[in-house]
Amino acid sequence: MNKKITVLPGDGIGPEVVQSAVEVLDTIAKHFDHQFTYTYAKLGGVAIDEENTPLPEATVKACKESDGVLLGAVGGPKWDTLPGHLRPEKGLLGIRKQLNLFANLRPVTAHESLTDSSTLKQEVINGVDLMIVRELTGGLYFGDPSERCQKDGEEAAVDTLLYKRSEIERIVKQAFELAKVRRQKVTSVDKANVLESSRLWREVAEEIGTQYPDIELEHMLVDNAAMQLIRNPKQFDVVVTENMFGDILSDEASMLTGSLGMLPSASIGSGGPGLYEPIHGSAPDIAGQNKANPLATIASVAMMLKYSFGMVKEAEIIEEAISHVLNAGHRTGDISKQGDAILSTTEMTEKVVDAIDAIVTVKN
Ligand code: IPM
Ligand code: MG
Repeated sequence: MNKKITVLPGDGIGPEVVQSAVEVLDTIAKHFDHQFTYTYAKLGGVAIDEENTPLPEATVKACKESDGVLLGAVGGPKWDTLPGHLRPEKGLLGIRKQLNLFANLRPVTAHESLTDSSTLKQEVINGVDLMIVRELTGGLYFGDPSERCQKDGEEAAVDTLLYKRSEIERIVKQAFELAKVRRQKVTSVDKANVLESSRLWREVAEEIGTQYPDIELEHMLVDNAAMQLIRNPKQFDVVVTENMFGDILSDEASMLTGSLGMLPSASIGSGGPGLYEPIHGSAPDIAGQNKANPLATIASVAMMLKYSFGMVKEAEIIEEAISHVLNAGHRTGDISKQGDAILSTTEMTEKVVDAIDAIVTVKN
């Protein structure tokens, strides 16, 4: 197969982890006779520096013309004082919106060999396998108005949490479709005891639920969900929720895997190219030092192969390779414990590439 991939390295550790993921893609291409061609484009701080906008037109065009988009991370202290519309994060939100990527899938799987790098007890996290389905193009992130204003004669600010029925319907459906091929349970997370938007969310979730009689639907308030995620995460299969709740809960859930450096994500919409990125940020403190954990980005390209290219076997080989290197005890700093030898980004990537080579050889 021939696939065009737009690569947005972004800021901080973004370029390093993206490089790792591209090497993994090339390894897969070599073994399976695929051709991946890469177009690099600018997003975030690097685009602000060079083109005065976090999301240049050329970047949007390149993304729209591709079969899949690979993104590193955006943001950093250098751009933290810029006005809202000129921040790197605005570029990320912009590209999600332009590609209509309303569904953000964040799978959380605890690798057994990593359970001791989590701050949580082994018996709590062993066997965790859940999927956060985060709404990505609505809610507080995109509501209008979002601005400074005056209230009662003093400075104030407002953000708006708005959802249209159709926006809730399509994301909840997505969650049910995923639950069908998982463990048949959807937990819809809201704040229906306080927010009107959550009451509409809950109503719509109920309605969609009637179309899936074989799948269990439960509703959970977001504060309780935050608590349940660390109390008993194994109760969850698919968790569906609005944009900001999903942002917060997915960072929390990453600790079930031991590190924020382990969680991949796929953002998909209605037919166009999907966008694949690690959920971690640009980690400016370790940028450019060859220290970042590339596994979340590598796992993100596995999701690209599976969800955008239908290359299920190839995706599984990448996932198997990740498990293999972890089981073999290879660790970057973020997942290491005292006494472990710490691998650099490039060394970890080599281990994954070697594991893919080995797995493919055994299978042939
Ligand atoms: C994420 C990130 C982004 C978000 C930021 C960088 C805008 O935290 O993908 O989780 O909030 O969506
Ligand atoms: Mg986040």
